Amino acid sequence: MCGIVAYSGTKSATPILLNGLRKLEYRGYDSAGIAIHSDNTIHIYKEEGKVANLIDSIGDYENDAVHQQCHVGIAHTRWATHGPPTKENAHPHGAGFEEPGGSRIALVHNGIIENYRALKSRLEAEGKVFLSDTDSEVLSHLIEFYYTDDLAKAISTALKEVQGTFGIACIAKDQPDMLVVARRGSPIVIGLGEDQTIVASDASAIISHTRQAVYLDDNDVAIIRGGKIDIKTLDAKPVQRDTADIDWSEGAAEKGGYEHYMLKEIFEQPTAIRNSIRGRIDLDRGTSVLAGLGLDSREIVDLQRLLIVGCGTSMNAGLVGEYAIEDFAGMLSEVEQAAEFRYRNPIVGSKDIVLAISQSGETADTLAAVREAQEKGALVAGLVNVVGSTIARETGRGIYLHAGPEISVASTKAFTCQVSVLLLIALKFARSRRLSREQGIKIAEEINSLPELVERVLEQNDAIAKIAEDFVKFDNMFYIGRGYLFPVALEGALKIKEISYIHAEAYHAAELKHGPIALLEESMPVVALLNAGPGMEKTLGNVEECRARKSPVLGVISEGDEDARAACDWVIEVPQSSQFIATVTSTVALQLFSYHVARLRGCPIDQPRNLAKSVTVE
Ligand code: M6R
Repeated sequence: MCGIVAYSGTKSATPILLNGLRKLEYRGYDSAGIAIHSDNTIHIYKEEGKVANLIDSIGDYENDAVHQQCHVGIAHTRWATHGPPTKENAHPHGAGFEEPGGSRIALVHNGIIENYRALKSRLEAEGKVFLSDTDSEVLSHLIEFYYTDDLAKAISTALKEVQGTFGIACIAKDQPDMLVVARRGSPIVIGLGEDQTIVASDASAIISHTRQAVYLDDNDVAIIRGGKIDIKTLDAKPVQRDTADIDWSEGAAEKGGYEHYMLKEIFEQPTAIRNSIRGRIDLDRGTSVLAGLGLDSREIVDLQRLLIVGCGTSMNAGLVGEYAIEDFAGMLSEVEQAAEFRYRNPIVGSKDIVLAISQSGETADTLAAVREAQEKGALVAGLVNVVGSTIARETGRGIYLHAGPEISVASTKAFTCQVSVLLLIALKFARSRRLSREQGIKIAEEINSLPELVERVLEQNDAIAKIAEDFVKFDNMFYIGRGYLFPVALEGALKIKEISYIHAEAYHAAELKHGPIALLEESMPVVALLNAGPGMEKTLGNVEECRARKSPVLGVISEGDEDARAACDWVIEVPQSSQFIATVTSTVALQLFSYHVARLRGCPIDQPRNLAKSVTVE
């Protein structure tokens, strides 16, 4: 949710920290700050709002001796949990400032300290003074309380008392070249350089410096001096962690000439889907090759159920997966919101496979569901985009999306790549169970054609932008669909509400009559998913019901379908295909629609209010 950057090396830390913060701003953007070590003092700068405000307030750092001489520093961009987004609550948090000479230590923290109240009372009784409402400041005081001359030891001692999650970076006034970082439940990636180390909460902040990285495990503490790194457990036992190559290009994490990351990521989808399905389709055998699942046909036949857990867009993609698994493979499948799965004592057993879907691989609720499923003895696999993320590592088996970095808070290419891979999973399971080679080849060919079909939808960008003009004035919308297209309605409504702030609800088209229809009137437009296929005639009937009550209707229809066109006020045509393929093409059309409505309403598309890219708190 928040972003961390930290540096130790021979260069000036300030520009590296600020550039890193810009790259991480999508993770949280209500305040930002840096702390640098210079002139035997810890200098802390923080500001409310965007990183640009912080940069303005620091001023001419390139010509300022304090910044030229700082070679160690930490930085943070915040998504508020404890306390409003003010300058005081921004990180870094100093501690030990009761003595003359400024803070003895400074800390940045991602995660939640659950027992912060008890710790705070204890520290206040010891005379510590708190300047913020945050749980993070409690941790900085606790570390300082234990600090004599060994920073790593003080951090380990403090962290053993902490309940909750953390990714932290800490510096001390009397350790001018040292940086200590640690994690439990909140990612820390250490970028390796020859005489420098750049740490961040995700790889996008380090790829302009290095492609070699080490991902910390939970309860690791790393002591960093320039290019030298010692990793220990909280009990001070030295540990080795593997070095990984980050294969995301720097350009992939830039806007590349687009006005917004969201638009860029929408347009990247043909390539992203190609990368997701590349090498995974066997057209000859009419099946898919998904080695990462670690299941042979015998084991697949033995499985009774595929349970899918995820949140938000990932959960919506999971619903398409559920329909496809049942449709293609005749196998039981259920999707559950990850937090619900975690807390309702689910019935899972050794014949179940639980698939955790997450773009970031860090969503706290999804991670908690993974752990619960493992506890109950289920086979657990991940469908994750970010390589080396916690869910990818903890599940151990699964499939990477290879969609490239998704920076915009509104998820787009992750959804279409997740659906593409879920269709491949359904195909694989189906071929092991009941599908003939010929049927398998047909489905495989359709999945293979997805990138080209998506390209054809993208060609309609201008036409969709024109339709969007008519929707700027609305405050409420309904989305309806049935069968495979019901999850598309959910995803369409999620997208428009999160970026344009229009209130939108998705309903199964048949559900409309059971209550929501009472709200239909001229000012309540309906988006109807009308791709040709099972149930389409019935949805057309629902469209008539909407128009009879004066609700204007935007239909997403199959190319050339004149009946569907005649039933709607506006239409977006997507290529003719099976409905399981239309889940992708129709979603792309609705992504463009949401994007243009939000743009015309002047919304901050890549960083919608109150949101953050990855939700690492439960
Ligand atoms: O990283 P994840 O896929 O686990 O994230 C899950 C949701 O937080 C995410 O999809 C969210 O709903 C997006 N903002 C939707 O655009």
